[in-house]
Amino acid sequence: MEMSVPSTATQAGLPVGKLAAWLDWVQMLTGAALVLFMWCHLMLVSSVLISPKVMNALAWFFEVTFMAQVGGPLIFLAFLVHFVLAARKIPFTTREQRVMLANARRMRHPDTWLWIVQATTAMGILIMGGIHLWVVLTNLPITAEKSAARIQTGFWFVFYLFLLPMVELHVGVGFYRILVKWGFLDRPGRFSLKKKENVMTMLFIGIGLLTLLRYYFLPLK
Ligand code: HEM
Repeated sequence: MEMSVPSTATQAGLPVGKLAAWLDWVQMLTGAALVLFMWCHLMLVSSVLISPKVMNALAWFFEVTFMAQVGGPLIFLAFLVHFVLAARKIPFTTREQRVMLANARRMRHPDTWLWIVQATTAMGILIMGGIHLWVVLTNLPITAEKSAARIQTGFWFVFYLFLLPMVELHVGVGFYRILVKWGFLDRPGRFSLKKKENVMTMLFIGIGLLTLLRYYFLPLK
């Protein structure tokens, strides 16, 4: 069979998809906002390690200024927009997933595997993060005692044991990928940042685990 390959010179070029580029931009901005939020969130939630009084004071401040009531739903919105935009790239059919895995194996390229970490943790975070946001935001005000009581039911302790590493991995890898994708890093910069990023992720998981244990053993009145 004769193959007819159209020559580019005689064909109209494909329309340049500006929308896709804009959506990529919004995907990155919502991702960066969520990374910043999660860093603040870790500091706020782990303030219980200093003392439950400090955590209560911070929670009180965020509620009397309406930052929790307004910020909470905005985080929810950013979370959903970010998911919908990032999902454009996720292979959902088995056929696509097979190709993706075969390519990742063949290339032996760690950053391609990091993308798979992103797509996998994203699914867990979408479900568990959604449940968490709902439970916390429909139970305001936040107090150390209420959080401790929740975690001491045992169910929520295990729930967070899964959610915590997924979120920290996703945030860490996401932050690294933003810097690489948008050209903030050269090749040597990549390797050194990746090492620092791994240390940071381990540190955040460590602080998160200590926080969970503090809630678990906090005496309830
Ligand atoms: C405005 C939005 C949010 C508020 C007000 C909030 C509040 C809280 C509070 C009060 C706790 C302590 C445990 C509890 O009370 O059950 C907690 C823990 C936690 N939250 Fe959030 N959260 C928010 C958003 C998120 C999001 C978007 C994620 C990730 C998808 C997340 C992940 C976690 C994790 C992993 C823990 C476990 C505690 C730890 O770090 O050791 N949170 N959050």
